[in-house]
Amino acid sequence: MTAPYSPDDRQKVVAKLPPELRRELKVRAAELDTDIQDAVAAGVTSWLALESHHTVDTSGGSSFSTYLPTGLYEELKRACKPRKVSYNQGMAQSIRLWLDSKSSPRPAPVRTTGACRLVFGNQKGGVGKTSVSAGVAQALAESGKRVLLIDFDPQGHLTRQLGYAMLDIDEASLAKHMLGDAESDLQALLVPIKGGDFEDRLWLLPACKDAFLLDAKLATTRAVRIKETALERVMAELEREFDYIILDCPPSLGYTMDTALYYGRTREGEKPRKSGIVIVVQAEDTSGDAYDMLADQMDDLCDDLKIEIEVMGFVVNLYDARNGFIATSSLQSWQNMEEPVLGVVPELKEQREAVRRKEPLLAYEPDCEQAQILRKIARRIQG
Ligand SMILES: Nc1ncnc2c1ncn2[C@@H]1O[C@H](COP(=O)(O)OP(=O)(O)O)[C@@H](O)[C@H]1O
Ligand SMILES: [Mg+2]
Repeated sequence: MTAPYSPDDRQKVVAKLPPELRRELKVRAAELDTDIQDAVAAGVTSWLALESHHTVDTSGGSSFSTYLPTGLYEELKRACKPRKVSYNQGMAQSIRLWLDSKSSPRPAPVRTTGACRLVFGNQKGGVGKTSVSAGVAQALAESGKRVLLIDFDPQGHLTRQLGYAMLDIDEASLAKHMLGDAESDLQALLVPIKGGDFEDRLWLLPACKDAFLLDAKLATTRAVRIKETALERVMAELEREFDYIILDCPPSLGYTMDTALYYGRTREGEKPRKSGIVIVVQAEDTSGDAYDMLADQMDDLCDDLKIEIEVMGFVVNLYDARNGFIATSSLQSWQNMEEPVLGVVPELKEQREAVRRKEPLLAYEPDCEQAQILRKIARRIQG
């Protein structure tokens, strides 16, 4: 697989930049489908060609790293001296220059069908549903979207990996709301995910220990269609607050999954490729069999309820080409599928370290290769 930069002709550079400038850079780069490192390189090149530039406020700066073509960094440092500015100021001015030369291409979207809904699923455990859904949510929030992550797996891995406790069995919960057993406001259960450049835009609806009962209770409910529509009904209010709602699904194909799939269907009047299912897979043989079962379940649901569920694409996770033919040929078979491969995430230590430290990956190691790929996946999802 190709790295987002060639280590041979780029060098890592670090500068202290104020958080607002970093965020603006990430949002604009995402809007323009440009890599951050290419945006910075373009800014530096333009800045070098200028005589001078007005001062940019760099107070409150914290560490930001990126990769510049070798030589450009030296040129920038050299040019700072005669202009009597610090290197951090030179970087800040270069980025400001790039931002000012690129206006935002998108007017605020007009929503008529609620938030976009992305369901991350696969009944196989350990393939990376939780890691990838959380990473994509962070990347979307970093690019300026308001994002809600729902821990829809009774095991509560997402909740715990982000450093939160699961809701107690006696507390209000999403499952109780879905079953009509809760009085309170669902919004009161949300917690903010802190850190990183997505702060203030990313929220979590934690899992509750009662979610284990959800499947059985949905199965025995007598109300017609409640099995499939239970989630959609309780989410209506919250949808107004968010651009994206992301579900990290359990590794199972029960009613809980049906209600998630129904929630991700293409609604009437909704444009294609706004909502749907993202299937996280691995490049090995059993992943293909697992996908066939999930695809059958989706077909049945679509036939029964006369709905459409868009497969947004596959994310091939935990990829390691050193596994040889099995890995490369399995990857090829995912790439041969009708639906797109949204990204290939290599098996790298940063993801496991972030989980161990209970930190979001894009806050723990914002510039690592996995983080860059998750941003690309988020951009492809936004179309
Ligand atoms: N790309 C990756 N590189 C390294 N470790 C990963 C990667 N993706 C996931 N992991 C690790 O694999 C384990 C299972 O991932 P997880 O996201 O919990 O899978 P799932 O939700 O499908 O059960 C976790 O410990 C996670 O940290
Ligand atoms: Mg999981």
